[in-house]
Amino acid sequence: MPQSYDLYFASSNIHKFREAKKILEDFKINLGFFKCELEEIQSHSLLEITKGKALQAFKKCKNPIIVEDDGLSINSLNGFPGPYSSYVFKTIGNKGILKLLNQNRKAKFISIISFHDKKNLEFFESKVYGIISDKIKGKGWGYDPIFIPSESNKTFAQLKNKNELSHRFKALKNFSNWYLGK
Ligand code: IMP
Repeated sequence: MPQSYDLYFASSNIHKFREAKKILEDFKINLGFFKCELEEIQSHSLLEITKGKALQAFKKCKNPIIVEDDGLSINSLNGFPGPYSSYVFKTIGNKGILKLLNQNRKAKFISIISFHDKKNLEFFESKVYGIISDKIKGKGWGYDPIFIPSESNKTFAQLKNKNELSHRFKALKNFSNWYLGK
């Protein structure tokens, strides 16, 4: 029997989808995966990037969708890699980031969730503050092995409860409050 979902998560990143699905389950929202490659417009603004992706994704999926865009912003690098986080991860990776840093290791992770259906185009942004670790700690995807949220002394990769305090959790919680009340 085909399963019916409340809405779809449009992305090529299975890690993000798995986390988002687990988070939204607690809000009783049943999320499906709409696996797709979305073109990323060149912009310094995460909001503009995610908006472009949401419009494309809804056209392709023809169902209510959410799209998420994230950025790791490092204070001593004036916010770099920010909207270029994906490219920077693919090119220099966590080892490259660690080489760029000295004492000031403050950073934040930003998530913007955009929701799009026939009627609405809405955005939900959230941030988690923390630091970049001095070395790679734990096994995880993306920047998880080097990001330590300020509530903890472990990296996202080492934490068992990342999904209770991540940038993704906070943005999805904001989204859920709106979605369930709409
Ligand atoms: P994008 O939104 O897919 O462009 O993600 C930007 C970059 O941040 C990618 O390299 C992701 O792997 C990374 N990223 C986003 N969210 C997380 C996370 O929760 N943990 C680790 N890396 C992340």
